[in-house]
Amino acid sequence: MLFDVFPVGDLLLRNRVVMAPMTRSRAGQPGDVPTALAAEYYAQRTGAGLIISEASPVSPSGHGYLWTPGIHSAEQVAGWKRVADAVHGSSGRIFLQLWHVGRISHTSLQPGGAAPLSSTAKRADAQAFGRDAQGNPAYLPCSEPHAATGAEIATVVNDFRRATENAIAAGCDGVEVHGANGYLLDQFLNGALNDRDDDYGGSLANRARLLLEVIDAVVAVAGPGRVGVRLSPHGSFNDMPADPEADAMTLYLAEQLGRRGLAYVHYVDPQFNGYADGAQLLRQARDKAGIPVIVCGDMDRSKAERYLQEELADLIAFGRPFIANPDLPVRLHMGAPLNAIDEATIYGGDAHGYTDYPALR
Ligand SMILES: Cc1cc2nc3c(=O)[nH]c(=O)nc-3n(C[C@H](O)[C@H](O)[C@H](O)COP(=O)(O)O)c2cc1C
Repeated sequence: MLFDVFPVGDLLLRNRVVMAPMTRSRAGQPGDVPTALAAEYYAQRTGAGLIISEASPVSPSGHGYLWTPGIHSAEQVAGWKRVADAVHGSSGRIFLQLWHVGRISHTSLQPGGAAPLSSTAKRADAQAFGRDAQGNPAYLPCSEPHAATGAEIATVVNDFRRATENAIAAGCDGVEVHGANGYLLDQFLNGALNDRDDDYGGSLANRARLLLEVIDAVVAVAGPGRVGVRLSPHGSFNDMPADPEADAMTLYLAEQLGRRGLAYVHYVDPQFNGYADGAQLLRQARDKAGIPVIVCGDMDRSKAERYLQEELADLIAFGRPFIANPDLPVRLHMGAPLNAIDEATIYGGDAHGYTDYPALR
């Protein structure tokens, strides 16, 4: 099943293997621009039915880590065009992941040294990758955020809209809205973190409002068949507190996203995040959504096939295995051994640990 063609939104994918979005922190400087090396890296991985790009900040205030490639300047659009062209040159498909980090940032990364924005003024006990007092790159505790005003929320929605125009102009096949892993949109979804008393806090519908406004803005540009969204129910990464309403929010969103006819919804497997009832939640969410579901987290061939067989997922995303195995789908198909990942070269640096992992011959 994993190697069957599969329709997703406006596309027919060559298989059900998805390359998960992965930040590699190698954007060209100045300007956080995707490089020719990034184009080569993605082109090497087009055995996947769909590549989801590393997260790409939609605006200067959306950055939380140095050297992550944005999608808000003309140079970045040109850089992503080089990536999309290279992927298409190898008959691949790529969705660009749209990112705003919210409170997972540091004043050294923010325009004018401002406080990052979030759903809340509560600081995350997590790290950003910015510049220390001497100006040197460093992992730093996240800065205290401020709760976004209504005008700032409207700006965020508009930034996602413009970023989608940019991604489409760059030739990407679609966009994935990053609603996962404790970043801005997740900071609004989480009922134990979001402490607002306006239209964007309180009820499920209010907490989901920003994500859905972003989706609607993005869909207005790209069309529903070119838009996916990533969610991480029960995730604790980036200091996300346990949300007693995580299941209810997941099912509410599944219904809302399905109604909009999106290309897919992409879940970080709740079981990967330690939630014992994750399979049941995935099954219910998939039933409710009625659109293709991607599931990601610690997959291998047999687990992937099992998820497809048990109808927990329609497509399976692999993250870390794709770092070290440019030809991962071929290896999975053949049952060939996988290259081991070099932890030291995951973030930053050059071709080493990026484009020099060997394929089978
Ligand atoms: C180096 C690295 C970078 C990542 N960057 C992103 C990212 O940019 N966006 C995102 O949604 N998830 C990101 N993730 C999470 C992965 O997409 C995936 O959910 C996680 O690695 C679990 O899948 P795996 O077990 O197949 O690696 C990243 C993971 C790794 C290891």
